[in-house]
Amino acid sequence: MTDTSYPVPAAFAAKANLTPADYKTLYDRSISDRDGFFAEQAKRVQWMTAPTHVGSWSFDSPVKIEWYKDGVLNVTESCLDRHLDARGDKVAIIFEGDEPGDSTTYTYTELHREVCRFANVLRDRGAKKGDRITIYMPMIPEAAFAMLACARIGAVHSVVFGGFSPDALAGRIVDCDSTLVITADEGVRGGRKVPLKVNADAACEIAAKAGVTVKTQLVVQRTGATIAWQTGRDIWLHEATKTVVDDCDPEPMSAEDPLFILYTSGSTGQPKGVLHTCGGYLVWAAMTHDYVFDLKEDDVYWCAADVGWVTGHTYIVYGPLANGTTTVMFEGVPTYPDASRFWQVCDDHQVSLFYTAPTAIRALMREGDGPVTATSRKSLRLLGTVGEPINPEAWDWYFNVIGETRCPIIDTWWQTETGGAMIVPLPGTVDMKPGAGTFPMFGVEPALVDAEGQTLHGTAEGNLILKTSWPGQMRTVYGDHARFEQTYFSTYPGNYFTGDGARRDADGTIWITGRVDDVINVSGHRMGTAEVESALGSHPAVAESAVVGFPHDIKGQGIYAYVTIIAGVDATDELRRDLVKHVRKEIGPIASPDMIQFSSGLPKTRSGKIMRRILRKIAANEYGNLGDTSTLADPSVVEALIDGRAIL
Ligand code: WTA
Repeated sequence: MTDTSYPVPAAFAAKANLTPADYKTLYDRSISDRDGFFAEQAKRVQWMTAPTHVGSWSFDSPVKIEWYKDGVLNVTESCLDRHLDARGDKVAIIFEGDEPGDSTTYTYTELHREVCRFANVLRDRGAKKGDRITIYMPMIPEAAFAMLACARIGAVHSVVFGGFSPDALAGRIVDCDSTLVITADEGVRGGRKVPLKVNADAACEIAAKAGVTVKTQLVVQRTGATIAWQTGRDIWLHEATKTVVDDCDPEPMSAEDPLFILYTSGSTGQPKGVLHTCGGYLVWAAMTHDYVFDLKEDDVYWCAADVGWVTGHTYIVYGPLANGTTTVMFEGVPTYPDASRFWQVCDDHQVSLFYTAPTAIRALMREGDGPVTATSRKSLRLLGTVGEPINPEAWDWYFNVIGETRCPIIDTWWQTETGGAMIVPLPGTVDMKPGAGTFPMFGVEPALVDAEGQTLHGTAEGNLILKTSWPGQMRTVYGDHARFEQTYFSTYPGNYFTGDGARRDADGTIWITGRVDDVINVSGHRMGTAEVESALGSHPAVAESAVVGFPHDIKGQGIYAYVTIIAGVDATDELRRDLVKHVRKEIGPIASPDMIQFSSGLPKTRSGKIMRRILRKIAANEYGNLGDTSTLADPSVVEALIDGRAIL
């Protein structure tokens, strides 16, 4: 972390939507007159019945959070219908396929039609308000159509990242009792095929054994691959849409009706279904998308995330479309066919606002400046980052080489749970400090606390909490409200605990330092250590395992697994490879351990609790300061682990 501060580039500041004074005025008002402020923000959205209530919540048990509760809306009217008059011919989605040159566009009029037809297909299959629909798709426009089609009929979508395994997909299908799955024959990424339908079929089988029978698989044809077909259950989207009409009445939804569930990893147990509702989420998505990106009508905006993550939900689909923006959907990867791809796409589509994760920047930085300087990038005026702390070297490269010092870097801290950006240097309003989220978004009240919950003032480092609610806040863990309270509101009662640590400098600038719980952030993707341990534990050779994160040059954090194998099994490299394969099968490639250390024992307290603090230090090669090891049941375990680390 560096405290060097960079002024907002002058040419950008001259045209920015907000001045430093605007930020202060709006922020102060958002706190002192929260209801007034958010009543105005609600006007960003089209309501069937405008709300008279604004926010009401309790962070004490029973936790209950409501925004705009008497409002009625359908989010797709804000994202589609209301643009038809003024922006009907404006491009809503630019699709950029995996292969350069494979590109299509949809205007708002075309998108409206596609979504209505898709929604009619869902209705024909019996889907209705409140049903949970699982979407397991590549990054193609149909993924956005599917999400919006669900919203159109009031069904709750649960998008599962296309990189998850059949087991992981099945777990999510079962958890929310979803009997309709939308998928594609195959996905394509970086020139490689992803067998989505094969995986979805396998997931359906696993789900059936757990008591949930998928009745419909709606399949989008992407590659034309030959796939297995179960008549009655499986239907092609392109065939089903032949018989439907172009219009579909939007289902009236209460502001507090669910819009989507998105599974995310936590400290303990299996991923939880983060539930967002219609009204508050959309207001937050639209508001933050506008402010964070200094949005102008003629911007071409590209968020290079995947719709399988919350960033894709809020900043590829809902935020940009609610604001009538042209949004790019990219199917590929940053390095295919070569490391110029991102910047080539920016040139081809004249992208002005670009948003990605630090891990992508680091991976591209490794390839040198050549692939960048081979492109123009003159259309770019703002660069955003999300998902993990950005190291100063990557920040500098993004700022100097990619943006040629012309574009502010907007480092947005937020979470699946927060629905949208929470701590961010709003463009034009504040000097940038590499790695700093800087200041809170309107209505957000962060605080730093110590382990006992004492508020820390001034220059300090501690755990990050949020003291009050905001419209985009998750409302519950699907099907498990007790877990919601326990996870977020029990550590610091009366406050929302983020799971992140942060520090604040003398200017009040906030820096997110990373997770303080057992969540690892791998390439900007959240992974629970407990999930990986549970996957490892289901391998027949494993007696016990402990998983921690360790510093990784490209991924930010890598996955380090300590594995104790059962007696009689040999600790070989082949077993290591088999364990990695097993985790990929159980969860997916993103959970692959980067390092596996076979260990004869794990450091435990006398009560049997694994001391992860020690394991993290060993994984990070920091043996010097292991802290107090006197409470260990068997301190010699630590020596053995250090010896084992050295030979890796
Ligand atoms: C981390 C992604 C530092 C953080 C939107 C958080 C960040 C977790 C940043 C949420 C950032 C996200 N700087 N850390 N700008 N953005 N994080 O739910 O640890 O996938 O708690 O949401 O990512 O990850 P999630």
